[in-house]
Amino acid sequence: MSKTLIPKINKAVFPVGGLGTRFLPATKAIPKEMLPVVDKPLIQYAVEEAYAAGIRQMIFVTGRHKRSIEDHFDTAFELESQLEAANKKALLQVVRSIKPDDMDCIFIRQPSALGLGHAVLCAENLVGDEPFAVLLADDLMVGEPPVLKQMIQSFSTAPGTVLAVQEVPREHTSRYGIVSVQGERAYAAVDAIVEKPAPEQAPSNLGVAGRYILSPGIFQSIREQPRGVGGEIQLTDGIAGLIGHEPVYSLRYKGARYDCGSKEGFLQATIDLAMANPELTQALRDHMMEILSNP
Ligand code: G1P
Repeated sequence: MSKTLIPKINKAVFPVGGLGTRFLPATKAIPKEMLPVVDKPLIQYAVEEAYAAGIRQMIFVTGRHKRSIEDHFDTAFELESQLEAANKKALLQVVRSIKPDDMDCIFIRQPSALGLGHAVLCAENLVGDEPFAVLLADDLMVGEPPVLKQMIQSFSTAPGTVLAVQEVPREHTSRYGIVSVQGERAYAAVDAIVEKPAPEQAPSNLGVAGRYILSPGIFQSIREQPRGVGGEIQLTDGIAGLIGHEPVYSLRYKGARYDCGSKEGFLQATIDLAMANPELTQALRDHMMEILSNP
């Protein structure tokens, strides 16, 4: 296939309508996507990953109590003028870089939380007839190049729906969409996907992380599926409906994934990212040495 026929990924969808019950009471009044890892909210890590992959149109599928996400990506006029007056240039740069001038943010409401597939369907009119990315902000991904960029690079060699996958412990298959793939290559054709199977029913131990490139065919496919696991409209079921009709690939990405939807993963992300921050490394190392030597 000639390179010029490969479509560009211009749009990213961020489903941010979930309730975040696993982090109550912290998430009673603030969205889970606004919880900070070190000094940045989870949603900002995901948006930066999409931006680094060349995407400039960010579509947020929000729900009730999610106004702070809109505020985060909006101009903070008073804050900016105060920082400007105080000549705090570095902080001003931090605040302004949250939304670069060439990035568009579009917000749409998911009227009720009917599942991830339903959230993606809510973006249908904004996405239109082109392939697009979906990023789940509670999966914080650290990779070089960033994980979505790795996926777009693979997509440009063989376009289709692309799922980021990693090996997960057998006993954890019921936390993920699980795929079975053809062959051993990093970028491989998917021949089955099941949402959250029990270990004995799982077709493999390759679990889907919260990064997708989806063909526009996904919308019709989601609509055609009955309610899935948990009575929800599942994205995984929509993807299963594409297999055999359109190319579906999985990419074993290079990098780390932190499940920031769980307290354990959230704390691991916080420690690792703080340790990677030169301003914090030494103080944190000293503190941890002290804790470990006085258990
Ligand atoms: C969702 C998807 C699942 C995927 C996971 C990755 O589940 O339904 O297939 O493996 O994200 O984080 P959730 O974690 O939202 O329950």
